[in-house]
Amino acid sequence: MISVAVIGSRGQLGTDLVETLEKTGGYEIFPLSHGDIECTDEASARKVLSSIKPQVVMNCAAFVRVDECEDSPEKAFRVNSLGALYVARACAEIDALCGLISTDYVFDGEKGEPYTEDDRPHPINVYGTSKLAGEELVQQTCRRWFIARTASLFGKAGAQSKGGNFLETVISKVKKGEPLRVVDDIRTSPTYTRDAAMVLETLIRNQSTGIFHVVNDKGCSWFELAEKTVQFTGFSCKLEPIRSEDYSMKARRPRDSRLTSARLDRAKGHLRPWDEALLAYLAEKRHVASPNTAS
Ligand SMILES: NC(=O)c1ccc[n+]([C@@H]2O[C@H](COP(=O)([O-])OP(=O)(O)OC[C@H]3O[C@@H](n4cnc5c(N)ncnc54)[C@H](OP(=O)(O)O)[C@@H]3O)[C@@H](O)[C@H]2O)c1
Repeated sequence: MISVAVIGSRGQLGTDLVETLEKTGGYEIFPLSHGDIECTDEASARKVLSSIKPQVVMNCAAFVRVDECEDSPEKAFRVNSLGALYVARACAEIDALCGLISTDYVFDGEKGEPYTEDDRPHPINVYGTSKLAGEELVQQTCRRWFIARTASLFGKAGAQSKGGNFLETVISKVKKGEPLRVVDDIRTSPTYTRDAAMVLETLIRNQSTGIFHVVNDKGCSWFELAEKTVQFTGFSCKLEPIRSEDYSMKARRPRDSRLTSARLDRAKGHLRPWDEALLAYLAEKRHVASPNTAS
């Protein structure tokens, strides 16, 4: 039995991670919501984690509103950097494996092909910089740590703090018959939280250490993601590709932050392509019939 504390347990990724650990079995799980632990308060992080003494701590908490991070850099660094440090210090005290979730936005997007774990980060916005600082603080603080970088998450819990996710925004607009304008010059690796959670479970089970890229395979532009969502759900709508310079966003986005893994086992750690994962998500949310439903 491995004991695991999941911080940010009610978030988009945390929800599926807790569920995956429960379903897999062999874990004593301590789901920690924001009400249970305040990562930006060192005393809170120490008190909570030292009282349960888990063998593994998964830190899924973050301030993920990328544009707001530009306006509130103090908050971004408080949650994403200092919060990660305080959790890491608490882990070091109880000798727990410290797992931190990070982001594709630690890269600048200029490589021209998917980034591996060996590529050098170079963030171009406050969010990415604050997450990279969190990564470095964890590495400096803990004897045993892993960092799982993921990207453009979609999962049934939605990104709590974003009030849903990109796919739900697309679906809600097309249902209302509103036209959609989506950027087609920014590429990412859309990732289903259920799939990411499966890889995280393996990393936890194997007590893995180091940096890992945990994303669905292939990657695409935001326009392609919207287009596939519309196609799968069968709605008809006016979908227009636009350039990012025509869409006002506070934070600069990396042009191509697709990730791939050079470290995860090709057979077991590499996840299905993003469009297959998208279809599974749409079925889970009952936007399309489940592939297993008899017609
Ligand atoms: N969402 C994406 O597209 C994306 C892409 C790449 C990487 N990531 C990374 O993936 C991880 C999970 O993201 P997500 O989409 O699941 O985010 P989320 O849905 O916003 O969940 C984050 C959770 O952390 C909690 N939390 C926030 N600040 C906290 C604090 N100071 N102390 C304790 N708990 C706190 C939040 O609670 P409240 O809501 O109550 O504050 C929320 O339940 C993050 O590390 C993020 O950087 C996300």
